[in-house]
Amino acid sequence: MTLLVTGGCGFIGSHFVRHALQRADCRIVNLDKRTYAARGDNLAGVEGTPRYRFVEGDISDRVLVDGLLDEERPWGVVNFAAESHVDRSILDPAPFVVANVAGVQVLLEGAKTHKVARFVQISTDEVYGDASGLPAFVEDSRLAPSSPYAATKAAADMLCLAYAKTHGLSVVIVRSSNNYGPYQFPEKLIPLAIHSISTGRPVPIYGDGLQLRDWLYVDDNVGAILTVVERGRPGTVYNVATGQERTNLDVIMSIGRLLAGTGDGSAARVQHVADRPGHDRRYAVNSRRIHDELGWSPQVSFDAGLERTVRWYLANTAWLQRVTSEEYDAYYDAVYTRSWKRPP
Ligand code: NAD
Ligand code: DAU
Repeated sequence: MTLLVTGGCGFIGSHFVRHALQRADCRIVNLDKRTYAARGDNLAGVEGTPRYRFVEGDISDRVLVDGLLDEERPWGVVNFAAESHVDRSILDPAPFVVANVAGVQVLLEGAKTHKVARFVQISTDEVYGDASGLPAFVEDSRLAPSSPYAATKAAADMLCLAYAKTHGLSVVIVRSSNNYGPYQFPEKLIPLAIHSISTGRPVPIYGDGLQLRDWLYVDDNVGAILTVVERGRPGTVYNVATGQERTNLDVIMSIGRLLAGTGDGSAARVQHVADRPGHDRRYAVNSRRIHDELGWSPQVSFDAGLERTVRWYLANTAWLQRVTSEEYDAYYDAVYTRSWKRPP
C-alpha cells in the first residue's frame, strides 16, 4: 500500500512516517516543501529506507502533484502539509491561504482525477473556536475559527467535505487538540518553554496565562490517524483529544519542575508579554466518536508525555540549535519584542 504523505518532514508528519513505515506493507512517498518548520532533519534515520521516497515540493503546485499521483498511483493521501502556527498567521496570513486552502484544493482535485481510494485531511480543534464556558465541541458543532490559521483550516475542511459530497471522494477529517512531543518547532508553547527555561530566558506568556489547552502526546495522535486511514468512515470527521486540560501557567510550571529537578518549579521564570490578538481562551473537543466507532483511546498521560518530551529536548540540543539558527530570532523579535510587528 503506497501512501502519499504531505508535510512528512514536520513535527506530526515525521512521527507518522516513522510509525507507518514500521508496517511491512506500507510504502511512503513524502511530499514536503521544507519550510522553516522542517529544517531539523526530522526524518534523518528514515532516508535510505527502500519503502520511503522524499519529493521536495509544494502541494499547491498542480503540475507537480498531478505528475506524482500519476507516477505513484497511491492508495491514499494523508495531508499534514500546512502553515501551522497561529502567531505567524497573525503576522502574515498570505502563505496560510496558499498552503492550507489552495494546496488542499490541488490535492483534492488530484485525488479525484487519479481515483485515490482514501483522502485523510489533518485538521484541528481550532476550527470550532473558543470553548470557554461551553461543553466540549462534537464533530457537528458549528465552525467558528478565530485566527487566520484556524480560518484557513476550516476552509480546507469545507472543501474536503464538498469533494466528498459532490464527487464521492472518500475523505476523512481528523481534528485533534494540541500535540506535543519530540521534534516540535520551538515556536509552540511546550518546546518554546523548554528552550527558554533551559537557556535561562523567561517564558513569554500571553495575557494571564490561564488559557486552557487539551494536550495530546504526538504518538497518540499518530495512532488515531493510522486508525482513521485504515478504518475511518468516508465523509466523516473525527475529533481526537485526551481531556487532559491544563492552563498555560500549569504547563510552564511543570516544565520548570522537570528541568530544575527541585519539585518547586523554580527554574521557570515567566514574562507577561502583549497578548496574541484574537486569543482563544479554551479549546475542548469530545472524542467519543473515534473511541466508540474505531476503538481509539489515548495511552500517554500528560505527566509521562511531558517528562519524555523534556528528556528528548535536553538530549537533542544540536537539533534545537539547528532549527533556531536562521530566521528564528527575527520571528521571535517580531512577536515578543516588537509586539506583533512583522519583520522588515
Ligand atoms: P509543522 O509546521 O511542524 O509541519 C508542517 C510541514 O508541512 C512542514 O514539514 C512544512 O515544510 C510542510 N509544508 C508547509 N507548507 C507546505 C506546502 N505548501 N507544500 C508542502 N509542504 C508544506 O506542523 P505540525 O505541527 O506537524 O502540523 C501538521 C498538521 O497538523 C497541520 O496540518 C496542522 O494544521 C495540524 N495540527 C497540528 C496540531 C499541533 O498541535 N501541532 C494540532 C492539530 C492539528
Ligand atoms: O489546538 C490545535 C492547535 O494547537 C493546532 O492546530 C496548531 O497548529 C498548534 O499551533 C496549536 O495552536 P495553539 O495556538 O493552541 O498552540 P501554541 O503552542 O501556539 O499556544 C498554546 C497556548 O500557549 C496558547 O494559549 C497561547 C499560549 N502561548 C503560546 C506561545 C507560543 C503563550 O502564552 N506564549 C507563547 O509564547
